[in-house]
Amino acid sequence: MCGIVGYVGPNRDGRAQDVVMEGLARLEYRGYDSAGLALIEGETDGGVASGVAVRKRSGKLANLKQLLQDSPMPESTTGIGHTRWATHGGPTDENAHPHYGGEDDRLALIHNGIIENFHSLKTSLLEQGVSFRSETDTEVAAHLVARAYDECKDLTEAMRRVVNDLEGAFTLLAVHADEPGVVVAARRNSPLVVGIGVGENFLGSDVAAFIGHTREALELANDQIVTITAEKAEVIGFDGTPTEGKAFHVDWDAAAAEKGGHSSFMEKEILEQPTAIASTLLGRTDAEGALVLDELRISEEQLRAVTKIVIVACGTAFYSGMTAKYAIEHWTRIPCEVELAHEFRYRDPVVDQHTLVVSISQSGETMDTLMAVKHARELGALTISICNTHGATIPRESDAVLYTHAGPEIAVASTKAFTAQITACYVLGLYLAQLRGGSYAEEAQQVMRELHEIPSKVETLLAGMDRVREIARFMADTRSVLFLGRHVGYPIALEGALKLKEIAYIHAEGFAAGELKHGPIALIEPGQPVFIVVPGPDTPHGLHGKVVSNIQEIRARGARTLVIAEEGDEDVVPFADEVIRVPQAPPLLEPLLTIVPLQVFAAELASAKGLDVDQPRNLAKSVTVE
Ligand code: F6R
Repeated sequence: MCGIVGYVGPNRDGRAQDVVMEGLARLEYRGYDSAGLALIEGETDGGVASGVAVRKRSGKLANLKQLLQDSPMPESTTGIGHTRWATHGGPTDENAHPHYGGEDDRLALIHNGIIENFHSLKTSLLEQGVSFRSETDTEVAAHLVARAYDECKDLTEAMRRVVNDLEGAFTLLAVHADEPGVVVAARRNSPLVVGIGVGENFLGSDVAAFIGHTREALELANDQIVTITAEKAEVIGFDGTPTEGKAFHVDWDAAAAEKGGHSSFMEKEILEQPTAIASTLLGRTDAEGALVLDELRISEEQLRAVTKIVIVACGTAFYSGMTAKYAIEHWTRIPCEVELAHEFRYRDPVVDQHTLVVSISQSGETMDTLMAVKHARELGALTISICNTHGATIPRESDAVLYTHAGPEIAVASTKAFTAQITACYVLGLYLAQLRGGSYAEEAQQVMRELHEIPSKVETLLAGMDRVREIARFMADTRSVLFLGRHVGYPIALEGALKLKEIAYIHAEGFAAGELKHGPIALIEPGQPVFIVVPGPDTPHGLHGKVVSNIQEIRARGARTLVIAEEGDEDVVPFADEVIRVPQAPPLLEPLLTIVPLQVFAAELASAKGLDVDQPRNLAKSVTVE
């Protein structure tokens, strides 16, 4: 999500524009919807510069390049550049970065991430007479750093004073005309690396930004600030204590660097899930822990009057909706249907002004889902879009939007968008529960706390996937795999099967475990691999025991049982050929964990077969035809 470049070169070598633009081009793969750069202009030896020039444009880099031709920038040694993936405010020229801070436009700043407390900071700046030119959270940081600079006259110190007041995840880069030859950057839970050149230094969201110039790099820890000049890179903590980055040598080529050294975008995106979930949770609660959904433009009265929820989506997004249904009904007590968007559109659904139609789409452009949303609006329903792409068509055609903040998903097979979609649906469900009162309103804050623990659990899970990868490689010649689940494990079984079909071209079917004896058990023959997603022992209604019985039934008929079970669940051990452990979590949150090994399994098996994991045959990332 967002690309960031910073550069300081040798005196009188004015190639900052070229280096920054090249870095932005190398970061294009991250996905973006606008781009811009800032260069120090009018530099003189050792003195202050005349100003900071900014050029920015919505759309692709080609638009920015055209602007640079029409309105050339000065030669400069110092620059910052940004590709933006819109979060606060649509993808417009005004919202593109860099943003000026202060009234004299002598400071420019770019930002990756989300500043959670930007509302209160902005309100206070507005009260003090500061005027804003964009809708972004970034501009708040730009004004704050400019004001701090006016007081302390030191860009590093100004940055340090401000970051301590910011909440959320962010990388910030700033330049100031009074300090030519300097770029200051700060990071908290958001990527930033330093490239160490000879007589020049670089900053980037990842090493791809500067790999054409240097392979020597510095890794920064969280809550650190780095100040680069042409000669050095100095690091301090947010408390001002001097420290050092961790040096490393980059031995990837440019293509590998885009994937962060991973073999595929899918692999990279699977690993990004802790961040995708955490970012989707960011900024959804106020200081007291109550849910606040600023992006929802539907009144509380309208939401309180909702009598039915219908979720419409396709593919993986549909399975995220199926998963969320269990939680939404449980928390809100509002009946919730989940329907494939293309089926909803062409039947005669019972929908009225008290129906809330929630569409889920990563791209926001899926034609089937778009048509369902339009149809729902024609029927008078309220429509909310859960979407990962700012400014896309589906959110624009909906009454309200709740963005997932998974960052751009490049691999065709959806992974991090799926877990972010479940997270966003849960946030919506909890918000509705809170609005409507009742017993779950009180629990909402507790569930939010439990949700906040999920990213670190996913992190732990991802660190222990070696055995799953081994199993996948061993199964490269398998022709059919079955997946069983129950309750929230059922849609996970379906999604696990979909992943395998899509990228490994293996026949795969998911079933509700309770359905086995009604037909699918006939498919079980000796050696048939079956993944079973086992609910945690705490799941109500004794479902755990029922699924354990299902495992016994298929094992007795020769199935090879690959069991996904919670840490400490010993009941499954006697009947499992393999046990894949996931951290303990409340039953409704388990899907955010149990899907992970199935994603890893599919990606590893596809690559063991020598297939193109990111671009499977016959599939497109965005399905814009019905
Ligand atoms: C599966 C996959 C597809 C999409 C589906 C909907 O890995 O990517 O099944 O989930 O085409 O796409 P969006 O979410 O963009 O509407």
